[in-house]
Amino acid sequence: MADSIIEIEQLTKVFYTDEIETHALSGVHMQIKRGEYVAMSGPSGCGKSTLLSIIGLLDTPTAGRYQLNGKEVANLDFADRSRIRNQEIGFIFQSFNLIGDLSVAENVELPLTYRAGMPAAERKARVQESLERVNMAHRMRHYPAQLSGGQQQRVAVARALAGSPSILLADEPTGNLDSKNGEAVMKLLKELHDEGATICMVTHDPRFAAHAERQIHLFDGKVVAEGELSQLMAEA
Ligand SMILES: Nc1ncnc2c1ncn2[C@@H]1O[C@H](COP(=O)(O)OP(=O)(O)O)[C@@H](O)[C@H]1O
Ligand SMILES: [Mg+2]
Repeated sequence: MADSIIEIEQLTKVFYTDEIETHALSGVHMQIKRGEYVAMSGPSGCGKSTLLSIIGLLDTPTAGRYQLNGKEVANLDFADRSRIRNQEIGFIFQSFNLIGDLSVAENVELPLTYRAGMPAAERKARVQESLERVNMAHRMRHYPAQLSGGQQQRVAVARALAGSPSILLADEPTGNLDSKNGEAVMKLLKELHDEGATICMVTHDPRFAAHAERQIHLFDGKVVAEGELSQLMAEA
């Protein structure tokens, strides 16, 4: 399907620790189309972060198929995975993950320095442009510790945007923010989506999930339908 950015089939992930097997994902099927805004929710431990890490090429599945932009990426080696991640994926984390001893501008520029052949002038222009996009250009020379949580998350969004990725992935992006800053980050993601960005966001806040066009519910390592989830939750 030409308009699918993400196509996942029969994806499983098993973690082995101290002779314990954890089946974090047990046969996930999903698709995300270009320009879609998808929210993923489900109870703690159901596999949301594991799935997002695999989609974001931070981790590999135990089995299954994963096509990103029509290319099979489930079994790439570390170097290819890093390169494709750098080009195709913008990641926004709950805890911002900015580097404390780099300035705001340097944090946003860092992923671009791994792009083979991108001239310094283009890097600077992209840093400027993406910080303007999130209204943080005036804090370019600040350091993360000098910013509020909401401002740090906006910088993290700028860092995710700077490389013009195919898809933005956000894992509980409002989890460490108060409700006012959380709302502001949600509004920003909504605007980016309205401008054409493809977004997959993990959240367990139904108010935020409602910003998305489509909601995927996970339960026990599987995608379940909305009705099924409330049933399962009621029975649990
Ligand atoms: N690196 C890991 N090693 C071992 N078990 C893990 C690891 N990461 C996640 N898990 C386990 O996999 C399951 C799914 O975790 P996770 O994807 O973080 O859930 P969620 O994000 O929905 O809360 C949990 O049982 C968790 O303990
Ligand atoms: Mg999680």
